[in-house]
Amino acid sequence: MTSTEGRDDPRFYRGRLREPRSQRVSDPLYQVRLVSNRAKNYWLRTGLEHASGCLRVLDLGCGRGGDLFKYHHAGIAHYHGLDLDGEALHEAQSRYRQLRARYRRTFSARWTQGRMEDAVFLLRNEPHRFDLLSCQLALHYVSESLRHVLLSWDQLLAPGGALVVSLLRFPHDLDELCGPHFRLQRQGEDRLLCRLGPAGSREWQEPLISVHELRRALEGLGYRPLQSRSFLSLAEQEGLLPGVASHQLSAADRSLLRLYEGHVFLKSG
Ligand SMILES: C[S@@+](CC[C@H](N)C(=O)[O-])C[C@H]1O[C@@H](n2cnc3c(N)ncnc32)[C@H](O)[C@@H]1O
Repeated sequence: MTSTEGRDDPRFYRGRLREPRSQRVSDPLYQVRLVSNRAKNYWLRTGLEHASGCLRVLDLGCGRGGDLFKYHHAGIAHYHGLDLDGEALHEAQSRYRQLRARYRRTFSARWTQGRMEDAVFLLRNEPHRFDLLSCQLALHYVSESLRHVLLSWDQLLAPGGALVVSLLRFPHDLDELCGPHFRLQRQGEDRLLCRLGPAGSREWQEPLISVHELRRALEGLGYRPLQSRSFLSLAEQEGLLPGVASHQLSAADRSLLRLYEGHVFLKSG
């Protein structure tokens, strides 16, 4: 059955891309997830290297805190996670407690439950702006005009700060992409039908956003594009994604990873 619950319902986002660790090795998309995880790490580090300031991070659509260890290793000072899913935030907080128990010196952290479209209002009492805004695999869920949302997020980013976005871009000239364990099918202009797992056991629809619109809106705000590449091209470049051997990727995984992209934009100082 196709899942079409509303985007404001947190259940819509759960269990899409992650499974319990015990199931991952037998997971047919394990290599894709591994590359995605390493690629996100690469983008966050690139953004942090170029952002000026004391490294305060705002993670929009942060989910269950899968990027917390990345931030710890990158040495940030403060982290704020925002997500509409209270259950995901609960898990993120528990991961953060584990992180603190393991490493005595790490960043301070806070969380806010709510829509990223309302971030400016929700964070109105924050005393300082952020040096890095991250939106990983979540920007396409924005339900208002992308330009309007980016304009509002600009108020949260300090001059010289970085915006790091990763997303799935489904080319206009492609109607369908299939592998042994996935099938992506375009549904009209801005929707994608996704089927994953053995015999397409999980099925749902994802909204698609226009990268052209993203770039145009940010350039209109005076942001400079620093890097923009697919996850596949990162995996192919030796040494960029530690632990990933691109020759081990199947042809189907390669075609899927070509659709995932990371973008880093810098705000003028
Ligand atoms: C695919 S997950 C990505 C999570 C995390 N950024 C990562 O890379 O692991 C998308 C997340 O966006 C959140 N989300 C979706 N729409 C949102 C909205 N309008 N405002 C805030 N969070 C939202 C979902 O609850 C979910 O946790």
